[in-house]
Amino acid sequence: MTDSPSPQTDKYPTDFLWGAATAAHQVEGHTDNQWTDWERQVAPRSAVNAERRIGTYRQWPAIKDQAVDPANYISGALGDHYHRYNEDFDFLESMNMNAYRFSLEWSRIEPEEGEWDDEAVKHYGAYIDELRTRNIEPVMTLLHFTLPKWFAAKGGFESSANIPYFTRFSEKIVKALGEKVRYIITINEPEVYAFESYALGNWPPGKRNYYQWFRVLNNQLKAHNDVADAIHGLNAGHQVSIAKNSNYFYQDDGSKLSQLGVKVMRYLQDDYVLRKVVNTSDYLGINFYQTQRMKGLMIANPGEKVSDVEWEMEPELIEQALVRLYGLYQKPILITENGLADGDDDERQWWIHETVTAMNRAIEKGVDLRGYLHWSLLDNFEWAYGKWPRFGLVSMDYETGDRQLRPSARWFGSVIRRARGLK
Ligand code: BGC
Repeated sequence: MTDSPSPQTDKYPTDFLWGAATAAHQVEGHTDNQWTDWERQVAPRSAVNAERRIGTYRQWPAIKDQAVDPANYISGALGDHYHRYNEDFDFLESMNMNAYRFSLEWSRIEPEEGEWDDEAVKHYGAYIDELRTRNIEPVMTLLHFTLPKWFAAKGGFESSANIPYFTRFSEKIVKALGEKVRYIITINEPEVYAFESYALGNWPPGKRNYYQWFRVLNNQLKAHNDVADAIHGLNAGHQVSIAKNSNYFYQDDGSKLSQLGVKVMRYLQDDYVLRKVVNTSDYLGINFYQTQRMKGLMIANPGEKVSDVEWEMEPELIEQALVRLYGLYQKPILITENGLADGDDDERQWWIHETVTAMNRAIEKGVDLRGYLHWSLLDNFEWAYGKWPRFGLVSMDYETGDRQLRPSARWFGSVIRRARGLK
């Protein structure tokens, strides 16, 4: 596998950010937030319903034992990244990476309303210093889905009156840690959070209320704008964005109806959100995982190649996605997440190869692409799916805490070495 040809990287600028991403609740272990309570509440039901929900997945025979075990749905200790981050940063270095995205766990920093844990702030300061020592550019996310319990109890982003709590937290952080970081993501995937938590009811608080769904989405977008303004007010040259999940919608057959379908879906998914945040953002953080083929007004994916969570795999279409987004918004783009669930590691190298080549083409076409952060550095807690999906460049044994670089990651490291012109 490692002998396969290297992807084309001749168009990448020398200061391109090559890295990986994680989020606090998914890797740190022993967090105590709104999700922690939710996990305890839903784990038994998730285990019982697993076969009904995902029993048709191609991976079912391989994952069944984990998926029907309630423990799968409890994040718990994970790989204790909170204390073992140095070991994990070694992997970034061994892959020749020069960037890393992580998130802060708000509930560690402000466990009770207005009560700040200075030790937690210091922890993240030391964490960032360690990255800097290794010449790795930190990309810091202020909020990646997990709310402190007290903020959730107030209704979280359901009420615009709660936005100032998030702004206050963000200001506190930027004052304490801002001089150590340049790239800041305010909120990860506000639209995914609003949809999963308030339309589908899959995530806490498990509501299905379309009115609240839109309110939560719009309040988060407002929160981004407020925080971005506050950060820019400090005039420290920070680069601020949200991280926007973007599926690439395209048409199957050229029919008028399919064209309309694509237009509507692109608007609902991307443009509704991006138009509201673009003016306060210095670049666009884009999480790219999936493609959606439209036949008329319906999604009609070929389904030939899917990942372990049954997401359509057409990684090469990142080129078209980038060209479209850059053409419309004319802002530099940072791929803040991209990757796949692949427990056997038999598709990851192919995926990265296709992606790196496609991004090379997009840069050639004029897209101002600043970096690529693979999701994820480590196997992690995959929200409602629990622990069985394996997104990591590094595998994690949750029993022993043992971590191992996957073969595809070793190969990716050699691609980065060449692309960066390192010895
Ligand atoms: C989220 C991550 C998640 C990944 C894979 C993204 O939508 O930001 O937290 O693990 O997708 O599902």
